[in-house]
Amino acid sequence: MKGIILAAGKGTRLYPVTKPVCKPLLPVYDKPMIYYPMSVLMNSGIREILVITPPDDTKPFVDLLGDGSHLGIKITYIEQKVQRGIADAFIIGKEFIGNDSVCLALGDNIFYGPFFKRKLRAAAEIVSEGKAAIFGYYVADPRAFGVVEFDSNGNAVSIEEKPSNPKSNYIVPGLYFYGPDVVDIAENIKPSARGELEITSVNEEYLNRGNLRVIALGKEFSWFDAGSADSLYEAAGAIRAAQRSGNMIGCLEEIALRKGWINEEAFRKLADSMNKTNYGQYLGALAEEF
Ligand code: G1P
Repeated sequence: MKGIILAAGKGTRLYPVTKPVCKPLLPVYDKPMIYYPMSVLMNSGIREILVITPPDDTKPFVDLLGDGSHLGIKITYIEQKVQRGIADAFIIGKEFIGNDSVCLALGDNIFYGPFFKRKLRAAAEIVSEGKAAIFGYYVADPRAFGVVEFDSNGNAVSIEEKPSNPKSNYIVPGLYFYGPDVVDIAENIKPSARGELEITSVNEEYLNRGNLRVIALGKEFSWFDAGSADSLYEAAGAIRAAQRSGNMIGCLEEIALRKGWINEEAFRKLADSMNKTNYGQYLGALAEEF
């Protein structure tokens, strides 16, 4: 399976902060925002990752992540010249995806919680059965998001983008697992009223084919769309609290080590270069769970 991070958003809701620095590079507590979706892909076992960057702004991403070899992964970059919506990621990534399945992570979505890796494995399994897997996260007011209704077996029943009368309280966070057929689907959807190729239109197509599965993320789970000042602040506080109780969130070097993609010596070198010399603390106590 391949991975795509859509990190091309201008972040206008965060102006003036995002005038000189694009949103996915802003700090969320002790790491750049993009580390969090990158950690989700790595935790899914994905080692080939395409980062879609804003026009003329790839250099800072390369400065930060390079070609990924220091983490035992391969990172490539393509600019999204015109903002055409989330589903455009599959058109931009057509060649990169080829005949593989693909996981798309939005550059400003942050996830962590108990047994997350198990849920990621479940998503990959659904894709291997020829279906699409999305997640459902309970919120009090879902109107600003994609909203999914699903039955007790995890089959999607309805899906709508930013409905004024939501049929459920489960929003669809920015993490999507599909087969290679997603490229063709993305190429054939029509832009929405806001002029975007909506990811919800892609999901609707899978739903119509009876192939859309939803994995519920319970109340014990944390998810943030860190695209506003408030959610950015909230996410930073939550990550700080989680890490103080021994759960490292979004620590790419730690994941690479645990996966066996880099050895301990390489890990120590990376940690040293970032002044994280307390390796024990940097590795976290309960990381396996999260
Ligand atoms: C986008 C998607 C929406 C999803 C959300 C998650 O919303 O369109 O379905 O729930 O990301 O962050 P947007 O950020 O475009 O408002």
